Amino acid sequence: TRVAVLISGTGTNLQALMEQVKKPSSSAEIVMVISNRPGVMGLKRASMAGIQTRVVDHKLYGSRAEFDGTIDKVLEEFGVELVCLAGFMRILTGPFVRKWSGKMLNIHPSLLPSFKGVNAQKQALQAGVRVTGCTVHFVAEEVDAGAIVVQEAVPILVTDTEDSLSERIREAEHRAFPAALELVGSGAVKLRDDGRIVWNQSV
Ligand code: GRF
Repeated sequence: TRVAVLISGTGTNLQALMEQVKKPSSSAEIVMVISNRPGVMGLKRASMAGIQTRVVDHKLYGSRAEFDGTIDKVLEEFGVELVCLAGFMRILTGPFVRKWSGKMLNIHPSLLPSFKGVNAQKQALQAGVRVTGCTVHFVAEEVDAGAIVVQEAVPILVTDTEDSLSERIREAEHRAFPAALELVGSGAVKLRDDGRIVWNQSV
């Protein structure tokens, strides 16, 4: 499966995905990394791994539709079959999300449906929950609401700060996202037309 990873920053999730696809058992290859911001660490990580990169700077586009259209063109040009949003901090438009429905995954630093939106780690701390985690889900038009593929739970310690909790969640992300990539990339998990997850049990 030909995979593109979309990033906006450090790219530690990208790094985890790149390490996963190098395994002989992997059913995926990362053929493109796109960042909406120039000069970020994630772009260096991709280049060092010999993966082609593009910057599609959202500030240079007059509308979200034009920004998404440019991204879509790059994805088509590289024959991308699966898109991974790895710390990608842009909301994508309905038409783009619908086109890539069932072929686009996102990672969120909470156990959805709890704590949607930004600062999910801080929301969990402030809510006083003792367990949070991360979720890899298919991207749907409603933000942070698509069908869930993989989750990993993470304890919240009484000594936790937003930073220490975020770091522990990120370690879980680096296991959860590669696992989800393989499940979807291998066809073991698909998204049904009604938006439900289907696990392909071998008959
Ligand atoms: C991660 O915390 C992830 O949960 C969120 O954005 C951050 C990206 O980190 N979506 P990185 O760029 O993958 O290091």
